[in-house]
Amino acid sequence: MSDTVKVFFEGNTYEFPLIVGTEGEKAIDIQKMRQKTGLITYDPGFGNTGSCKSTITFMDGEKGILRYRGIPIEQLAEKASFKETAYLLINGMLPNQAEINRFSVLLNDHSLVHEDMQHFYQNFPRGSHPMGILSTMVNALRSFYPELKEVDEEINITVTRLLAKVRTMAAMSYKISRGHKVVYPRADLAYTANFLNMMFDSPVKPYIIDDDVVRALEVFWILHADHEQNCSTSAVRVVGSGRVNLYAAISAGISALWGPLHGGANQAVIEMLSQVHEKGIPLHRLIERAKDKKDPFRLMGFGHRVYKTYDPRAKIIKEWCHTLINKLNISDPLLDIAMELEEIAVRDDYFIENHLYPNVDFYSGIVLKAIGFPTSMFTVLFAIGRLPGWIAQWKESTDDPDWRISRPRQIYVGKPRSDYIPLEERD
Ligand code: ACO
Repeated sequence: MSDTVKVFFEGNTYEFPLIVGTEGEKAIDIQKMRQKTGLITYDPGFGNTGSCKSTITFMDGEKGILRYRGIPIEQLAEKASFKETAYLLINGMLPNQAEINRFSVLLNDHSLVHEDMQHFYQNFPRGSHPMGILSTMVNALRSFYPELKEVDEEINITVTRLLAKVRTMAAMSYKISRGHKVVYPRADLAYTANFLNMMFDSPVKPYIIDDDVVRALEVFWILHADHEQNCSTSAVRVVGSGRVNLYAAISAGISALWGPLHGGANQAVIEMLSQVHEKGIPLHRLIERAKDKKDPFRLMGFGHRVYKTYDPRAKIIKEWCHTLINKLNISDPLLDIAMELEEIAVRDDYFIENHLYPNVDFYSGIVLKAIGFPTSMFTVLFAIGRLPGWIAQWKESTDDPDWRISRPRQIYVGKPRSDYIPLEERD
């Protein structure tokens, strides 16, 4: 195989390096294209643009493969803890016993949030969306905790601080939004159980920790921990490329995740299914609307930029829907509606031709609802899960020898040069 790619343009031939990834993915290195040919590439939504080389996550959208640092998502969802997964993503390898112990101690040591930060929370208007609050508060962390970044040990503290505090801050925002007393983290509880306790414990009704509920949330977080160069991760990298502090880059990622076409889809799915249930909307009507090009409605929880087959994460989370609903002995009509909708959609020609299958968000809201989370917290939970991935990608980008500030070009299609007309002479 040649190690270059030839481009023919206006009678000339130009050669560009061919890059081949570990799994055989091929790319033309066009860094010198404009310089050599005067051409730039046009790729709205960056569907064919590799913005970096990365060692973190591998996805094959045609085969439905997802691996973190080489390990299949199915194995991690079955055997790993979220803490191990976070360590794996951020440090590049699974921790040994001593390393995971040290990581746990650090997470506990940094889990408290400065008391003064509570005043900020109190002043957000009632009904503020928790994603807006989280993004603001993560940015504000920089004022309370200076970013230590000179040596590895300092970077570890900044990173662990973020992982530990975001979890506490998320639970805190929920409690404050309900007008309840904040529950502090407990050193005797592991990462996920601690979060659930901060969310749901109250003086009148102590929270009873259930191992299956803890595991379901761990699996949800593991499945969301990274997804290579998606919208929010790209936001973290682009904002971080200006060499802004880690907190600000993560805050940008949280804002990007909020959108209903991205992380906000888990909330949008439950809202869509609830409407179907409450208003008795026939499912075929929903499918017809999704197919109608004049209607902006899309079937939430369906389709993906990369997966052109069943999202491997959706398979796992769907199984957890059943496990949890059976275990907790609840019946959720939304699960029945979701399964029926999936049945209809995956057999429909439009969905088949466009390779539209359920993505992770289609079933994850049902798991979160079964655990007791309000819909408005769903995307915040996604953000906690995605945090290790954002941090790993940010770290990788700061060490990248090919790093350059992100600055795409454009094709200008506006007016040609025209002269300024004084106000009194304008029509
Ligand atoms: N419902 C109806 N039609 C759809 C859907 C959908 N959910 N998704 C894609 N399509 C259509 C598109 O309109 C397009 O049709 P066209 O070629 O006639 O214009 C065709 O299928 C191909 O899809 P793309 O536009 O190429 O999809 P794209 O990669 O741009 O967008 C996205 C991916 C944003 C996820 C899209 O599928 C979508 O809006 N899905 C619903 C929201 C959702 O579930 N988001 C969560 C994604 S996973 C995540 O971020 C965690």
